[in-house]
Amino acid sequence: MMWDMQYTAKQFNLPVMNGLSEKQIKVHLALYEGYVKNVNLIMEKLKVLQEADNEGSAYLMAELRRRFAFEFDGMRMHEYYFDQFESGVTAPNKNSALASAAAEKYGEKGLEAHIREVAGSRGIGWVVVYSDLVAKTIHTVFVNDHELGQLAGLPILLALDLWEHAYMVDYVPAEKKNYIDAFFANLNWSIVEKRFDEAMKISAT
Ligand SMILES: [Fe+2]
Repeated sequence: MMWDMQYTAKQFNLPVMNGLSEKQIKVHLALYEGYVKNVNLIMEKLKVLQEADNEGSAYLMAELRRRFAFEFDGMRMHEYYFDQFESGVTAPNKNSALASAAAEKYGEKGLEAHIREVAGSRGIGWVVVYSDLVAKTIHTVFVNDHELGQLAGLPILLALDLWEHAYMVDYVPAEKKNYIDAFFANLNWSIVEKRFDEAMKISAT
């Protein structure tokens, strides 16, 4: 029965990172695994409460359902994040479809410079680049809480984690810029370009 399905934490094939220590990545991956565990836990608790069919559980179930997006998006956003580092750093391909879409939206300044600008926003959260298949454009958004403020239904092209846990082993908060440098020093742009190509394929069908 689908109700019994469980998510499994992904194993990422990460190279030695530039400017991000093994300990930093280990701590961050453990946090990701915590989200996966809690997604499963909420589903399990809901199942038990549903089967008990007790009227008194309605509030508890409602709160668990509200909580689900926090755990689920925490899980999925970290999968977007760590996937981007697999196979090591790769420069952007100037001839990619993403490069054309980015040039149309951000002009000569370019996508990376724009992401860096958005990443400079005060506060913790994520920079997320989405593809809008309806308007045939891309959007770069600062998402404070990953369960709120995401753009509905838009495929995610890039996710930059700007929560302090993503860099506090290696950098202090005042060095956030150094962490952003490290992010780009490890980013495999071909994965971001592939996500864009996949999204375009879906929109064409
Ligand atoms: Fe994180």
